Amino acid sequence: MPSLKGVMTDSESTKLAEYMYSDYGKEPQKVEEKKAVLSEEDKKSAQLVKANEALFNKYCSSCHTTVIGVNESGGELTNVYEAPYAKDVIHKLKAETKTKEAFITFVKEYINEPNKRKSLYGKKAIKDFGLMPSLKGAMTDSEATGLAEYLYNKYDK
Ligand code: HEC
Repeated sequence: MPSLKGVMTDSESTKLAEYMYSDYGKEPQKVEEKKAVLSEEDKKSAQLVKANEALFNKYCSSCHTTVIGVNESGGELTNVYEAPYAKDVIHKLKAETKTKEAFITFVKEYINEPNKRKSLYGKKAIKDFGLMPSLKGAMTDSEATGLAEYLYNKYDK
């Protein structure tokens, strides 16, 4: 695989490795054990994160995360992108919207109604990938709020 040096900070890569370990390596009983030591509040927020992560995986990640595919020209394995990488989009939008409230409002609106004129991420992405398709009706309003908030917190640094 190509080196991803510099793509994330050391603490981010630690978190990622921990996340992969916990997601793929665990027996169901072990998950239960871990839950038992969490406070009620931690449990609740962990459940929320899981629910929002599931939304992201279901509705967004197919385009907004890297997919390893076969390059058409050379038949080599390469990164294939359907859309700008989620982390880049979130960082840019945070800078543009300034407040968390404005960020959440923008993301929710964009999910329902992608629009060339409203785009904050930029015309270049639209030119490269085409306009994002509307996902109106895919989730409830409160799910969309949760998802937007999750994205805001996920890419905190
Ligand atoms: C079918 C592919 C696809 C899916 C699924 C998808 N997107 Fe996108 N998204 C795109 C493309 C392509 C762009 C870049 C062009 C644009 O901005 O419209 C984009 C851009 C964006 C932007 C930047 C908007 C701007 O231009 O300022 C946000 C925010 C975004 N997506 C959020 C999401 C969220 C949240 C989800 C899941 C609920 C999602 N997208 C699902 C393809 C997708």
